[in-house]
Amino acid sequence: MIITSDKTTSPFLRNAWYIAALSKEVDDEALFTRKLLNESVLMYRNEAKQVIAMRDRCPHRFAPLSMGKRLGDVIQCHYHGLHFDAQGECVHNPHGNGKIPKACAVQTYPIIERDGFIWIWMGDQEKADAAMVRNLSIYTENPESAVGHDYMYNKCRYDLVVDNVMDLSHVDHLHGPLLNSAGKLSPQVPQVKELDNNRISIRWDWTQEPAMLLFREHMPRTEDAAQMFVEVVWQAPASMTLEVGAVQDSSDFTNDGAVLYDFHAVTPETEHTTHYFFASSRNYKMDDCEYNRMKMEGMIEAFTQEDKPVLEAQYREMGDQDFWELNPVLLSSDVGSLRVRRTLDKLIAEEQQA
Ligand code: FES
Ligand SMILES: [Fe+2]
Repeated sequence: MIITSDKTTSPFLRNAWYIAALSKEVDDEALFTRKLLNESVLMYRNEAKQVIAMRDRCPHRFAPLSMGKRLGDVIQCHYHGLHFDAQGECVHNPHGNGKIPKACAVQTYPIIERDGFIWIWMGDQEKADAAMVRNLSIYTENPESAVGHDYMYNKCRYDLVVDNVMDLSHVDHLHGPLLNSAGKLSPQVPQVKELDNNRISIRWDWTQEPAMLLFREHMPRTEDAAQMFVEVVWQAPASMTLEVGAVQDSSDFTNDGAVLYDFHAVTPETEHTTHYFFASSRNYKMDDCEYNRMKMEGMIEAFTQEDKPVLEAQYREMGDQDFWELNPVLLSSDVGSLRVRRTLDKLIAEEQQA
């Protein structure tokens, strides 16, 4: 059932794919609920194992449908027992003569499940273009022993997380030994490029001696200098692929070096809170499950122990005030994050005027 919401009241870009959940979060049986863009969304797998997403709110007295029961592909409301099918249509009313009122239906949302992620479209349904879902096939093609997916939660606005990933100069200062880049990124003005479909890339190249700790043991000479790079590609509204690598005696990172293929994406829960999805793969030690587990743990620990506290404290300090109205001081390292902010602001304004 399509029930068009008023996007002019939304502070978010509506006509875009957001990540709703990791595939592994929605199992074959349970009802899974998550608030996305200020709307509670119920997700479950139908009997064909496809993910169904609908508003987690009964149209009768607004009880969350996730409190209810599954009867095959149908959801029974916990409160007064209305039944809704996977298209959001009411298919059973146990009250009175059983007639189903015309408006008795629930909003459903287009879903694409791919590469370990469940993407959702919460805008105008006729504009949902599957071609705009990011290509993350590396997480399907690489062996499981070289792939990890994880979920985090941040009590801050989603755009602060985007700033954090688009301005990696903070890695010089904020991060502990595993990811530290030894002061090499901050002196640079990174290369920023505008790509197709409003995508924006940012790249740093540098030499570090020895290589970043995460890569050091994978270098032929562990204590010597390595060439390093990191490149982030943002796509609206809030997803970023991030490749980072090190190499010695070559300029071919992919074939001669060690490269991580990471993905960061955020989905606003509300204006003040953020779902943070992460995936990672690599081109070295691809069969080593134990290394995979340790590497994921190390990275998640860095994001939750090092990035998250400052992002949340920064947001507590900013409160509800608009980013631009606070007159932030701008540095050369902000060149990518500012380009992203302006692009996203433009897309939101265009959508609201349309
Ligand atoms: S609130 Fe769902 S049937 Fe009444
Ligand atoms: Fe960071």
